[in-house]
Amino acid sequence: MRPLVQCHNVGRFRRFGTTTSYWLFRIGDTVIDCGPSNVSARVDRLFRSFHADQAPTSVLVTHHHEDHTGNAGLLQARHQLPVYCTPMTSQIVQTGYFQEWYRLAIWGRFRAFSPTGVLGPSFDAGPDVGPLEPIHTPGHIFDHHAIFAPEHKILFAGDMFIARRRKAYRLDERPRVEIASLGRLVDTLPAGTRLYCAHRGDAMVEQDGAQLLRDRRDFLRGLRDTVVQEVTRELGSFDEVSELVSRRALAAAQGFRTRQRLVPAPPATGEEAAFLAAIEQTVRRLSERLLGREGFLALITAEDHANVNLIRGMLIDPRVDDGSAQLGLERFADPALLHE
Ligand SMILES: [Fe+2]
Repeated sequence: MRPLVQCHNVGRFRRFGTTTSYWLFRIGDTVIDCGPSNVSARVDRLFRSFHADQAPTSVLVTHHHEDHTGNAGLLQARHQLPVYCTPMTSQIVQTGYFQEWYRLAIWGRFRAFSPTGVLGPSFDAGPDVGPLEPIHTPGHIFDHHAIFAPEHKILFAGDMFIARRRKAYRLDERPRVEIASLGRLVDTLPAGTRLYCAHRGDAMVEQDGAQLLRDRRDFLRGLRDTVVQEVTRELGSFDEVSELVSRRALAAAQGFRTRQRLVPAPPATGEEAAFLAAIEQTVRRLSERLLGREGFLALITAEDHANVNLIRGMLIDPRVDDGSAQLGLERFADPALLHE
């Protein structure tokens, strides 16, 4: 008999570690996410092998990133599988988006597609699985949804976990929004939830998923509190720093909305420029002290993927920039999120 959840590592560079591994999951007859396009031959073979037994009947997408959506068109066209996306993700995958060169190298090109249907608040995955419920968890990226199977206490976490102390962040991530999303999961998930991570597979299913997410939330919270404290000590007022950095983050997001790529806000002048330079110095010093030296990825991505983005992200107030503007999506007015 097939296990309820099947895990398949399809990543091309999986020997290089977590960030370049990718796992496809199947629960009953439903597949979670599609895998990156540069391993489409591998994914195609996997789905052909499914046909020999019992073919899956649908695919649910957690968010628009290319490692999660790269084979959506293939699965629709060659395997006649319906692909369901939330309304937020649908908006993005139909038009496509900018990918930095390193994303093209690691995951391959994203190709726009039309989702077969809308993934609503509850998806009926058949009698063996029961409902699958997407939980909006912005922060990593605004359209991110983790997918929960309440009858089996299983969470497909997408990119919400990866590691307790993941610290290399993309420029477009919003860690304070992520803290709120992690809190939402911690409050929602029952004890004993098993967590499946898109980049770690089933490596952590023996541990309590809610506790893993709590640990990650607490790591980020602790870091945020230290950043607030240190910035206040060095620069006088955290609120003033946060106001300026948040305003500029939003301007960068709005300035390039159509291509979905962040570009720096217009150069500052005078006192504002001097203040920004002082903030930048503090951010870099804190990053090195609290998170250690940058890795290889920071160097080759020109810091698009770097520890320093996590520290800088802690300065961005979710009430000003929650990460929605950079995707051209509507603001998220959840009071719980604004509290964090
Ligand atoms: Fe992602």
